[in-house]
Amino acid sequence: RWQSSSLPQLDHIDRSDEEGGGEIDWDNLGFGLTPTDYMYVMRCSAEDGGGFARGELRRYGNIELSPSSGVLNYAQGLFEGMKAYRRPEQQAGGYTLFRPEENARRMQHGAARMCMPAPSVEQFVDAVKQTVLANKRWVPPQGKGALYLRPLLMGSGPILGLAPAPEYTFLVYAAPVGNYFKEGLAPINLVVDDEFHRAMPGGTGGVKTIANYAPVLRAQMDAKSKGFTDVLYLDSVHKRYLEEVSSCNVFVVKGGVVATPATRGTILPGITRKSVIELAGDRGYKVEERLVSIDDLIDADEVFCTGTAVVVAPVSTVTYRGQRHEFRTGPDTLSQELYTTLTSIQMGVAEDSKGWTVAV
Ligand code: COI
Repeated sequence: RWQSSSLPQLDHIDRSDEEGGGEIDWDNLGFGLTPTDYMYVMRCSAEDGGGFARGELRRYGNIELSPSSGVLNYAQGLFEGMKAYRRPEQQAGGYTLFRPEENARRMQHGAARMCMPAPSVEQFVDAVKQTVLANKRWVPPQGKGALYLRPLLMGSGPILGLAPAPEYTFLVYAAPVGNYFKEGLAPINLVVDDEFHRAMPGGTGGVKTIANYAPVLRAQMDAKSKGFTDVLYLDSVHKRYLEEVSSCNVFVVKGGVVATPATRGTILPGITRKSVIELAGDRGYKVEERLVSIDDLIDADEVFCTGTAVVVAPVSTVTYRGQRHEFRTGPDTLSQELYTTLTSIQMGVAEDSKGWTVAV
């Protein structure tokens, strides 16, 4: 059982709202790491007879790990990605989180797969809120980006033989971010990798384990060296059905139909993906979660990617076996509409009729 933190002692924390202390160029944020002031740490140890150290805010900085920790040796780790936006002053100010309980539940689901205990939904959301408040001077001004939150869950205890670690650490840190891709909001160019795969049936592609991410670096670096933005993966069995891009889900649009790969264990169940499915349905599109073949993609009018970091990114070209396929981008596209609708809700500038945002 995780022990919840009691209300944090924030007296020692600089809670001034002065944005970034004047140290940061808000217009050119990108997705680089800007260290912030505080992180939240909560430990969970079986040795304490089910008692767990309480969570607390600490100065952001390095953590100590045993060389034989489960996470370092056997990749027993999960992460989440979330964003806090600064609300407009005229709407009482403050900050908003987007569907944070979904991230908490996804971490619980992943923890079960990776044999780890997980914080409760309340503990997770409380930790994220505390991290936002402690770092509030790092939440970018309206329209300039968001404070990205990175909850981690790891086997921090020592273990030599292959087994679950005897101790776990839940940690949340934050960094102000702008656009994920170097293209900014401009359309991206993907390449389909025919050799490498991201996940396989029965594997861990459907949970947000750290172990899913290093394996895509080889293909990603090769793609970038050839001028592509990122890699689009196909399924590892038929080598024919779309899975996802290294860091985001993928959608194809043809006429009034929007299709995205169904989550059957190899694809990450994205929270932006789930939200976009609902928003596209509200707009009268028929939304299909199914097998989406490479031929469906080639035949599509429009292709876009979704993710917390990526938001909704239009795809202008996909290169498959040396052939470059082009898709519609620009002002009259569904991806543009979805981007505007979604970010308006997330930033608190449009009414949140779905109850997706949580005030901090
Ligand atoms: C996110 O979108 O938040 C992610 O976790 C993807 C990551 C590779 C940046």
